[in-house]
Amino acid sequence: MSQTSHDRLLIIDFGSQVTQLIARRLRELNVYCEIHPYQKVTMDFVRQMAPKAVIFSGGPDSVTREGSPRAPQEIFDYGVPILGICYGQQVMMQQLGGQVDGGKISGGGGTAEFGRAFVTPEGTLPLLEGWFCDGDEQVWMSHGDHVSQLAPGFAVYGTSPNAPYAITADTSRNFYAVQFHPEVHHTPRGAKLYENFVRLAGFSGDWTMGAYREQMIEQIRAQVGDKQVICGLSGGVDSSVAAILIHEAIGDQLTCVFVDHGLLRKNEAQEVVAMFRDNYNIRLIHADESELFLGELDGQSDPETKRKIIGKLFIDVFQKHADTIDGAEFLAQGTLYPDVIESVSFSGGPSVTIKSHHNVGGLPEKMGLKLVEPLRELFKDEVRALGRELGLPQSFIGRHPFPGPGLAIRCPGEITREKLEILREADAIYIDQIRKHGLYDEIWQAFVAILPVRTVGVMGDGRTYDYACALRAVTSVDGMTADYYPFTHDFLGETATRIINEVGGINRCTYDITSKPPGTIEWE
Ligand code: XMP
Repeated sequence: MSQTSHDRLLIIDFGSQVTQLIARRLRELNVYCEIHPYQKVTMDFVRQMAPKAVIFSGGPDSVTREGSPRAPQEIFDYGVPILGICYGQQVMMQQLGGQVDGGKISGGGGTAEFGRAFVTPEGTLPLLEGWFCDGDEQVWMSHGDHVSQLAPGFAVYGTSPNAPYAITADTSRNFYAVQFHPEVHHTPRGAKLYENFVRLAGFSGDWTMGAYREQMIEQIRAQVGDKQVICGLSGGVDSSVAAILIHEAIGDQLTCVFVDHGLLRKNEAQEVVAMFRDNYNIRLIHADESELFLGELDGQSDPETKRKIIGKLFIDVFQKHADTIDGAEFLAQGTLYPDVIESVSFSGGPSVTIKSHHNVGGLPEKMGLKLVEPLRELFKDEVRALGRELGLPQSFIGRHPFPGPGLAIRCPGEITREKLEILREADAIYIDQIRKHGLYDEIWQAFVAILPVRTVGVMGDGRTYDYACALRAVTSVDGMTADYYPFTHDFLGETATRIINEVGGINRCTYDITSKPPGTIEWE
């Protein structure tokens, strides 16, 4: 739990797929909130966190089922405003003396509702300020069960054809409950509803990046004291922002280790090192270990074997350099909030390993290091905002993600130095094209993969027998799902011509139009 001095809002997670979106909407309003699974929320927990308001998320269960999730009963006497969403509404009604009926999903006469619906107002409610200005309000419903009898003290303020209690409230206690999902895009004015709720709850909107920066600096100083911190830099946004923030807090007590595995893009190592040395004067070990990594990878073609070799060497190398820093007691990591949310899992089973992602996990225990994680409370776009606050150039902050194993997973099959050189040149031209056409910020990630196949071509009057490459560009929110970017044919033609003309060793260019799923973003 956070020790922040900001106004806090508690979101009790009942397992909805979109709980994180509630947090996003609130953070956009400069409201600090935390998501916690319902199993963990006891009254002791609530008192310790001391939230100024509580939101009950939606969830897949049915309150009519015995043993289904509940909020602690005393939370209703805790004296803060509560907003219940969908399952959260049903929990409120059930626990406060109302009635919920199971929905019939098919077979006619059902009360289940999935998708777009329109809510008609009944009376006025401060929570709904700015709603119903143009008639009925579009909302997104996703429920099987429905409230059939309101709890004492509640009145109805909005109805939809299948949800007579679409919006309900007990204004004397500041309890609000809605059957739809205001956090999703398909409830166009949903953000306004959250804005009204936090205003009614008295939030001052004190969650700003400036305040966060100051507070984190104090916290880092208090945690670290006069000890040494080491930080693995990848050149990505998260580890860079973490390093710069920590440097601001403790200066030379921080040493960064940048492991160059020989699988970086064109000029990448020089750019990262220059940015840190020239602009921030941060103590930096540039560990050029490309010989080691490429040597161990020689002759390996299986994707998982390649990943495992890189992951293990990375940890060995990092540890070797960390050992040279006297008195290092802390390891800094750019862990983000989505990585630490303990989401409610109803499936229970472990998910299959699609790819072994590499990170420095396991190091802290092995080396007896404690963690410094100053971004643990932030979402990705907030890290970018903090980076801007810390003066990082926009060109750096907006960089596409780059995977830890680097070009190794963009070179399917065996890796050779020759292939890596060709790939670097092709990738640089592709990214240059994307920037020139003003598309870089619209695309979530773009890169070239060099394919393990040579094809026949004709250039001038001669025959060529060179590598084929694939261009990849995707749109995504978090990398979990992705769609291919719809370049124009003109763009693709122009880019392919440039790559084939300017890069020796490539004579064929394809565009990868696979979404994720079923594909993954990287080729390995
Ligand atoms: P996939 O290929 O799994 O990639 O769809 C999703 C996102 O994760 C990145 N990626 C990695 N990032 N270490 C990382 O730090 C890894 O091992 C790794 N593998 C994939 C990938 O670039 C994309 O952004």
